[in-house]
Amino acid sequence: MRAPTVLANPLRPAILAAARSSSVKRAVTHAPITRKLVDRFVAGESREAAVECVREVLASGRSVSIDFLGEDTRDAAGAQAMVDEYLKLVADLGALPEAASGPGVRRLEVSLKLSALGLALAGDGRRVATENARAICAAAEAAGIWVTVDAEDHTTTDSTLAIVRELRSDFPWLGAVLQAYLRRTEDDCLDLAGPGSRIRLCKGAYSEPESVAFKNHAEVDASYQRCLEILMTGAGYPMVASHDPAIVAAVAPLVARTSRAVDAYEHQMLFGIRDVEQRRLASQGKQVRVYIPYGHQWYPYFMRRLAERPSNLRFFLRSVASRD
Ligand code: FDA
Repeated sequence: MRAPTVLANPLRPAILAAARSSSVKRAVTHAPITRKLVDRFVAGESREAAVECVREVLASGRSVSIDFLGEDTRDAAGAQAMVDEYLKLVADLGALPEAASGPGVRRLEVSLKLSALGLALAGDGRRVATENARAICAAAEAAGIWVTVDAEDHTTTDSTLAIVRELRSDFPWLGAVLQAYLRRTEDDCLDLAGPGSRIRLCKGAYSEPESVAFKNHAEVDASYQRCLEILMTGAGYPMVASHDPAIVAAVAPLVARTSRAVDAYEHQMLFGIRDVEQRRLASQGKQVRVYIPYGHQWYPYFMRRLAERPSNLRFFLRSVASRD
């Protein structure tokens, strides 16, 4: 029988909606069990903790993508603070021996959210986010590090992809994320499967309306497989971001059919999820990249992880209920 998936959880939209309430946020952030669970998914609150975690993951033969947690920045100062932290992170990562000095796959990457860099600012948010991302890309280029722009809710997809396209004229290695649950994504894959194009394909983690997104897991999984086929038969660099055993298993036959080299695609998984499987794939000589989030703004990321897995939520609620 198929394991429960992100969209098999009927409570997921309700959890994501409740997560926006300030009283739920207060209750979750103050529950004693929360810290332990957050530690499962988040490397720590400080950059030092994140870099320590990076060293450990690199030592195991896996690559990394680091995310400084934050989203929906509402003022220019907040966006600038994000950029400042990313520049320090890039400098710290650039000092590691794994920073790339030539062409080829870079083992170090940072992931960023354009809403954290100011995309939602009134007036010229799009320009602010573009220039902020450009500054991070320029520093990353000098340090031998890749950058990938995360995908957020569907209202930002057009602007995010437009900004990635603009920045790719200076930084052709800039990665983008496509979400298989969106009905538009097959077309986006066809558009973005050109030479060298780094595309991370994931299922999608936000609560989206039926008008734009597939709502049941069989449709999302089928969309993922169609998108994967497009990317793997294309000329780009597919990044297969999924823990789903059926998707992981679909990759090797596609690699064989398309004679894709081992350094021309990669598997990606989140820190703290299916670690044994990550190590198994890496031990077979496959490229595996671990997405490592850090920072004090862990709440929305944490709630998305709880929402996509009923057993995480059950464990959390049981722990809260039994704490006395
Ligand atoms: P699925 O949800 O079907 O899970 C398959 C199996 O994986 C489960 O049965 C379980 O074993 C394990 N698993 C999955 N989630 C788990 C959890 N929370 N806790 C414990 N076990 C879990 N989304 C987005 O909208 N924008 C983005 O930019 C990104 N970026 C991104 C980067 C990377 C590297 C990954 C791996 C994922 C993302 N995502 C994302 C999240 C993605 O959209 C999706 O929500 C999760 O990866 C879960 O989907 P799966 O494909 O893993 O399948």
